[in-house]
Amino acid sequence: MPADRLAGKIAIVTGAATGIGAATCALFAEQGARVLAADVKDPGDVLEGALGDRVAFHRLDVTDERAWAEGVAACTETFGAPNALVNNAGRLGSGAPVHEETAEEMRAVFEVNTVGMMLGMKAVLPTMLEAGAGAIVNVSSVWGLTAVANNVAYQTAKGATIMLSKNAAVTYAPSGIRVNCVLPGYVDTPMSRGVTPEEAERLVEFTPLGRRAEPHEVAPMMAFLCSDESGFVTAGVFTCDGGMAAL
Ligand SMILES: NC(=O)c1ccc[n+]([C@@H]2O[C@H](COP(=O)([O-])OP(=O)(O)OC[C@H]3O[C@@H](n4cnc5c(N)ncnc54)[C@H](O)[C@@H]3O)[C@@H](O)[C@H]2O)c1
Repeated sequence: MPADRLAGKIAIVTGAATGIGAATCALFAEQGARVLAADVKDPGDVLEGALGDRVAFHRLDVTDERAWAEGVAACTETFGAPNALVNNAGRLGSGAPVHEETAEEMRAVFEVNTVGMMLGMKAVLPTMLEAGAGAIVNVSSVWGLTAVANNVAYQTAKGATIMLSKNAAVTYAPSGIRVNCVLPGYVDTPMSRGVTPEEAERLVEFTPLGRRAEPHEVAPMMAFLCSDESGFVTAGVFTCDGGMAAL
């Protein structure tokens, strides 16, 4: 993999404080991109270590359309107009089944995972359309593809992000903008550490590779999909799940 595969790329990565987002920012910088690392919470160790000439932190709530406009402006001022976006921010739901879920929780989970993703694309598309180029990676989940019991809010919100990505991909393909969707399986991050030990055991059991992933094992998917190497790849739905979706 060329060390400068992302040279010239100016990316906004959301949910960048920890986990997959932080690993993505670190890898992007390593590979020559400049990155606005956006999150509602403070940077964790990995992102902290990546901050510097190529990575700047920006506080951004993906559910806030005005905050998105400010984020794009901050990116443009610091690095230049964004030509890549990784919509990675996510919120795990209560885990409840339909008959126990509240409308408030359902809306809140959709608001971050799905509406936040739509607002992110909406915010960067004008400059990408003007440039006639751009790459967007939307982070869904293997649970957006295959159902397991309960967790109705998260699974349906993540399912919607797959169609949101395909819709944007076919809409903007004629304008030179590519949109792809990455579906992680069980990855060791602050989000997944919220599951019970029994759930953690079951997740590994349902992973043919027999283990959970580290965030740095997912980040290369984002790098490939934002690089020019993936120039013929759009509307793709890519699992990075240790084989989970095959079961
Ligand atoms: N960890 C897993 O096992 C797993 C599996 C499948 C999918 N995913 C998805 O991967 C993505 C990254 O999650 P992660 O596992 O690295 O967990 P994480 O908790 O480390 O990262 C999620 C980040 O999203 C941020 N965020 C939440 N709401 C936000 C908002 N309104 N605006 C801006 N940022 C917000 C959080 O502050 C957090 O930093 C998420 O979309 C998640 O759903 C994770």
